[in-house]
Amino acid sequence: MKIAVVGLGYVGLAVLANLLENGYEVIGFDTDSYKVAALNDGKILISEPKIEKVLQKYLEHVTFTTRPSELTKASIIYICVNTPEKPDWSVELKYFNEAKDSVLKYSDHETLVIIKSTIPVGTSRKMQHEIDVKRPTGRIRVVFSPEFLRQGYALDDVRNPSRLVFGGEFDEALKIKLSTINPVNQNKIIFTDYESAELSKYSSNNFLALKISYINEISMLANKVGANVDDIKKIMALDPRISDGCLNAGVGFGGGCFVKDTKALYQQAKALGVDAKIIKASIDRNTEQNRILLTKLDEIYKGFKKIKNESILIVGLSFKGNCGDVRGSIAIDNLRVMERQCNNISLYDPLVNKETLKSLDHKIFTSLEEAINNNKIILIFTERTEINKLDDELFEKKIVLDGRGILEQSKIKECAYYYSPILGEIKKR
Ligand code: UGA
Repeated sequence: MKIAVVGLGYVGLAVLANLLENGYEVIGFDTDSYKVAALNDGKILISEPKIEKVLQKYLEHVTFTTRPSELTKASIIYICVNTPEKPDWSVELKYFNEAKDSVLKYSDHETLVIIKSTIPVGTSRKMQHEIDVKRPTGRIRVVFSPEFLRQGYALDDVRNPSRLVFGGEFDEALKIKLSTINPVNQNKIIFTDYESAELSKYSSNNFLALKISYINEISMLANKVGANVDDIKKIMALDPRISDGCLNAGVGFGGGCFVKDTKALYQQAKALGVDAKIIKASIDRNTEQNRILLTKLDEIYKGFKKIKNESILIVGLSFKGNCGDVRGSIAIDNLRVMERQCNNISLYDPLVNKETLKSLDHKIFTSLEEAINNNKIILIFTERTEINKLDDELFEKKIVLDGRGILEQSKIKECAYYYSPILGEIKKR
């Protein structure tokens, strides 16, 4: 039995690697010929080393192709294409529809289609209906199975998911088939209808995003009264009903998922006549929070004019610490605003690939020590803490705006000015 995976991004590659580990022969399909050529050589273009290792180990059990006709060989097809946001916050289904058309054209009568892409509520049922009308003989079955993996831990999260959800219409045989493809603890498997599964993905991401916006709002209050939001987090998180995930205050959430999924759910609710006030508040708080370092900088210098020629360093360009992905990067969003007014901006991020950094068109440092030494204003956007390995003296007279509150006390003491959403402002007497 061959299994095909359509769309070879984070989700597709993690699903594919997991299938290889479970002993399946796999076909990986993507329209990007550059990506496919690299994959056939056992190389992946994203920073998920565990996936690359698995790929290299099982290379003879997988074929990567740009030819959709190869899908005829598969009896199970996973759809893992991305579903980005449109300017009006609705979901771009172009890639999803292309995948659906390929399935319709090339798959066998009895194919099982498992959708992993995040799609608006109602899309899976529509797809099953369309298939039933266009292909009345046999039965292509469509199941929606939301993916909850985090970038940077993609394979671990697929190997050991917190829950495995299947939405659709099931008989016992289909339930057994789905439970055996990805062998996980049966208690973690939930079968439900299409709409509940689709909405569960949006609800989960929105709830996590809401936790981040909530703790960021609390951090603003904490700054005003001199409280430490990290301690508040610890205290809250000890209540198992709250738990500690997504409670780190900082510059808010970025990336390819929370940002688009919050907007998409708000937009879907609006289209259904539901005014999703909590979701909107979480988006609004985040939009403000993403610019909090710039707001502070503007406040302390009373306008950007005064720092037009000042040396400014951005530490961390990816959207979160443990990956080099710059999609939805908060740092780059801030850079775009600053570069209109400041002439001397430098960048540091060893996880982001060189070409991407170069395309940003600013001076790039490859040594963090040198970078700090050569710049006066330091803006930290990353959760990575390698900065704490440097000598404390390097921070003497520096203006540090620490978006994730990672700098240790001995260094903070050296700064001429320090701000973080966790500790608030610390000015040298
Ligand atoms: C997120 C979810 O965590 C996954 O469960 C989900 O499957 C995935 O989206 C998806 O829909 O595909 P991911 O985008 O990889 O995963 O990243 P997270 O680690 O959740 O971080 C998202 C953003 O929130 C980052 O910018 C991060 O810096 C920020 N964040 C995270 C905080 O500001 N505070 C926190 O406490 C945690």
